[in-house]
Amino acid sequence: MKKTGFRFNYLRRNITNMNELLISTPKNIVMSGIRPTGFLHLGNYFGAIRNYVKMQNEFECYFMVADLHSLTTHPDTKELKQNVYRVVAENIACGLDPDKASFYCQSHVRETSELYLYLNMLAYMGELEKTVTFKDKARQNPDNINAGLLTYPVLQAADILLHRAGYIPVGKDQEQHLEMARTFANRFNRRYANIFPEPKAFNYNVELVKVPSLDGTGKMSKSENQAATLYLADDDITIRKKVMKAKTDNGPTEKNTVMPDYIENIFALMKLVCSSDKIEKYTADFNNATIRYGDLKKELGEDMVNFIAPIRLRAKDLLGDEKKLKEIMEQGAEKANKSAKATMVAVREAMGLNY
Ligand code: TRP
Repeated sequence: MKKTGFRFNYLRRNITNMNELLISTPKNIVMSGIRPTGFLHLGNYFGAIRNYVKMQNEFECYFMVADLHSLTTHPDTKELKQNVYRVVAENIACGLDPDKASFYCQSHVRETSELYLYLNMLAYMGELEKTVTFKDKARQNPDNINAGLLTYPVLQAADILLHRAGYIPVGKDQEQHLEMARTFANRFNRRYANIFPEPKAFNYNVELVKVPSLDGTGKMSKSENQAATLYLADDDITIRKKVMKAKTDNGPTEKNTVMPDYIENIFALMKLVCSSDKIEKYTADFNNATIRYGDLKKELGEDMVNFIAPIRLRAKDLLGDEKKLKEIMEQGAEKANKSAKATMVAVREAMGLNY
């Protein structure tokens, strides 16, 4: 281990048996979290959950419902339990398998809070204040700029480092948080002992799927722009209605014109759920200037219904079975706690908190 050049080298402990403390090597451990705020939508499915379902077959996975994170912006906990249950039910309905991945609730793994505390001493005010998500949320909610909001990225780093995860399947909006998790991990490693691998964003090298909103403005959203977002909990009539209202126009008047953005978006949505024959047909219709958007939307609506309805029904069934939901979360917490406890023994040892 390199001994020079570290500012806090004098604080490092003499740890001889670190390997004994760490049960598994950090390779191939996956971790990600979902905040239980708002309803899951098609963008969550194609952007995240679908990858989780694939990853659970290939890696040691920890997927977590970030209820503690939600307290930074949602102090009212009246609906928290229901929201946690719904996120769990919807993920399972999408194919997440609690026998393969550990799927747990953040507050059920108490070591999260302990590691968060230690990491807070390694996080500087200046860097926390510069975080884009902090500045955004502070602007949106000037009456509740609490310390938890400021240290949100520290809690996220704790989630990740607690399992010594290396692969984090998240979207672009989480890149800065991941960068900070790497910073805190490296700081800990230099100051105390080399425990944490550097967590890196993970995706399957496929082009990132686009799930645009139905009105041609931006992406689908958990809480905003609900009429232009397809939720996994939407009923068939709502799905059809939303799709029929998607922004179109009278169609091209000439052959082979450039597709407007909002029409491109509708084709992007078709690519998610429609057969390639159907997409080819409507692409040809567009190029021949014979396209009928009413027909297209009717077919897209039906395919969306066929895609979402089974997920909604499975989630609904599970939501009615509180006992089963509890079992799933307990099973997940048991696995997550085992991994967390092993890491924390090493962390306490490294920090000299072992007397
Ligand atoms: N901050 C993430 C989001 O808003 C959720 C999250 C919490 C998370 N803990 C995490 C993501 C750990 C990845 C890893 O989407």
